[in-house]
Amino acid sequence: MIITGRIMPPALAALQEQCEVQQWNQAVAPQVSQLAEWLKDAEGLFVSTNIAVNEELLAAAPKLRVIAQSAVGYDNIDIQACTNRKIPFGNTPGVLVETTADLAFGLLLTAARRIHEGWDWVRAGKWQPGFQLPLGVDLFGKTLGVVGMGAIGAAVARRAQASGMKVIYNNRRPRPDQAALNAEYCSFENLLTESDFIVVLTPLTPESRGMFGAKEFARMKTTAYFINAARGAVVDTQALYTALIEGQIAYAALDVTDPEPLPADHPLIKLPNILIAPHIGSATTETRNRMALLAAENLLLGLAGKPLITCVNP
Ligand code: DGY
Repeated sequence: MIITGRIMPPALAALQEQCEVQQWNQAVAPQVSQLAEWLKDAEGLFVSTNIAVNEELLAAAPKLRVIAQSAVGYDNIDIQACTNRKIPFGNTPGVLVETTADLAFGLLLTAARRIHEGWDWVRAGKWQPGFQLPLGVDLFGKTLGVVGMGAIGAAVARRAQASGMKVIYNNRRPRPDQAALNAEYCSFENLLTESDFIVVLTPLTPESRGMFGAKEFARMKTTAYFINAARGAVVDTQALYTALIEGQIAYAALDVTDPEPLPADHPLIKLPNILIAPHIGSATTETRNRMALLAAENLLLGLAGKPLITCVNP
């Protein structure tokens, strides 16, 4: 079994108990050639999201029988290539829903109320009598547009509704449980023009890559807050930068960026109307343990020739 990066200790222990494990322990991901060498005899692969699993890599792993990763998103995996080789691939849906929704809604709330800017003021010793920090905006009475209303989107919608917001959403098609969601389906174009806050949670696919570009930002309200907790490449970074400096939208709060990690001298970081977190949507101890243990279970099941608990290509 090959593990391409650091994983949570309980999952590592569970795997080591049952298989021979070889783990890449360095902070920088292995080169394809190094990984290919490691994969020569591997039957299982616990892969990190910064590694592309494609035909080339699979060709180096003739004995591979199962792949899993500790993430719900799998845009780094060529699923068709796995299926062609009859290799099941397991992701970790479900176990990170509430945690990721907390982060997405936390970004929205922090940006709206300028909590991070207030803390910067306090820390810089600027909290003086009569000090004037830029005012925030209210959530209640506002419209939240969710792009990608899956389980995480629904959990964000519940949080927004508890704050008195109206929720609209866009998916490829309306959800059958729309009434229970208490959210209104609308076209992508209408969502862009009607939302005060937009939260993006759609998976990165060939169709969603770059779906937020110059045209989409130009359609949004100039007071709109744009929150991305999906994948950076869903957004055209240059178009977002332009929208923020030209005042086409008010603010962005991002958990994901393109590129990722964002270089320290990237122009986005210097903007006054942005808040960026380093891709921490699922980053709590409890949830990262649940994710890694689910991935480990998937691997052990695959090695035993049994169906995975959460298989993308059953
Ligand atoms: C996920 O689970 O997809 C998170 O974004 C971590 O990559």
